[in-house]
Amino acid sequence: MKLTATSTAIKTRKGRAVALFLAEGEEACHSRLPDLGELAALAKAAGFTGKKKTVATVAVAVGKAVVPVVLVGMGKRDEVNDEVLRQAAGRLVKQLEAASATACDLCLGAGAEQAEDPGRAIAEGAILAAYRFEEHKSEPDKERKPVKELRLHVPDDRLDCAREGLAFGSLLARGACFARDLANRPGNVCTPSHLAAQARAMANKGSLKVRVLTEAQMRRMGMNALLGVSRGSAEEAKLICLDYTPKGAKETVAVVGKGLTFDSGGISLKPGKKMDEMKFDMCGGAAVLGLFSILTELKPRQRVLGFVPTSENLPDAAAQKPGDIVTAYNGKTIEILNTDAEGRLILADALAYAATFKPAAMVDLATLTGAVLVSLGHLATGAMANDDGLRDQVVAAGERAGERCWPLPLWDDYHKAIEAQTADLQNIGDGTAGTISAGMFLKEFVGETPWVHLDIAGTAWGGPDVAYYNGKGAAGVGVRLLAQWLMDRE
Ligand code: BES
Ligand code: MN
Ligand code: ZN
Repeated sequence: MKLTATSTAIKTRKGRAVALFLAEGEEACHSRLPDLGELAALAKAAGFTGKKKTVATVAVAVGKAVVPVVLVGMGKRDEVNDEVLRQAAGRLVKQLEAASATACDLCLGAGAEQAEDPGRAIAEGAILAAYRFEEHKSEPDKERKPVKELRLHVPDDRLDCAREGLAFGSLLARGACFARDLANRPGNVCTPSHLAAQARAMANKGSLKVRVLTEAQMRRMGMNALLGVSRGSAEEAKLICLDYTPKGAKETVAVVGKGLTFDSGGISLKPGKKMDEMKFDMCGGAAVLGLFSILTELKPRQRVLGFVPTSENLPDAAAQKPGDIVTAYNGKTIEILNTDAEGRLILADALAYAATFKPAAMVDLATLTGAVLVSLGHLATGAMANDDGLRDQVVAAGERAGERCWPLPLWDDYHKAIEAQTADLQNIGDGTAGTISAGMFLKEFVGETPWVHLDIAGTAWGGPDVAYYNGKGAAGVGVRLLAQWLMDRE
């Protein structure tokens, strides 16, 4: 989708739709819009009041042509923020698709202009809403006419700002869509080697380096928690390591993502219902790769290290069994009481390894527990940390980026539940506080590194799309949050 900004007024043309973002009580007219005579009356007749989450398309006669005008509600003027605009842009795109309008001139009412960064929010909402995953369709959906162009009309003094915002939002949305493509690919396509190849393809001569640890290397290094998970799989497990080092970097941060390309549960096999969704169990890894896919353009000032432990979890004669004990990279022993609690095992080695680089801060993202769906549903990511300040920083970045997180505690008292009879740790808790037990387990592998764990099992896919821009399949969650976090840390 081509997204541009201009300070010229809108000229209505055949084949182009017009859109207007209006808060409650604002008239359906605009200084950038030519006099469309009956527009205000048509809007009224259509029952359009500017209320949040509402939209109306009216057909206005201009000479001999009929111009579709899409009115999108912003809600109360003083409650408009970037997320309201993101959702409005998403709704606009869906409305344009329904009307088979492929180009649109958009202007913002005074309410919509109150948002922090309208250009950014519009680009994000529009691109994310237009996303489709059609790689495996032999013919693309002929019914759907994708929106090709969105042109934002702003006053002269807002032009630079709008252009920068559109570019920034497009970049973040592109990173998120890259992650969505990876996540939506089926498990027979998106294997650990596929993720590794995608990572390798990002490496360039300059600031971004990629190294992929093989099973043989990991064995020598003692990453037995990760290797144990992969034992039942014919695919080689990998630890993908990415390194973005800009000139004059001040600090190092690390991001780690669970890259389980298919989770059957292993010997503790999952029930068949919806097991196909476990192809999404690599969404944390996809978020890390999505971030790295845009890092050389985003240009944060930190050195950013990325780690994606990637494996399948399958039952087999060679598979890890309940009761097995493994020694992780940091020397801690783990009794495997349930082979389906595998995410924390592959993360254990990756986090312990990442910690050896002594990052000033570390964030991991993982589709770790079904329990987080019970607590927060599809609408918020669970945030846990060994550093409350850092956690608040990450939660704030999520809020700004339109990816909500909510804190859960990691108090020491929760530790008892993961103490094992015959090893240092066991890989499941006592059946209560499942999301926290998993967080407590991970905490054992980060050492002194300030760290935040994001459980994205509820937000990575399958949401009701209340935001109007995430649609079906993977949401690409985490990319925009991480990018925002890096930019805000500077
Ligand atoms: N990948 C799953 C978590 C998951 C479940 C994500 C449902 C999204 C939807 C993870 O590996 C898992 O199986 N966790 C178990 C842990 C349990 C065995 C302690 C779970 O949540 O049931
Ligand atoms: Mn599992
Ligand atoms: Zn899993």
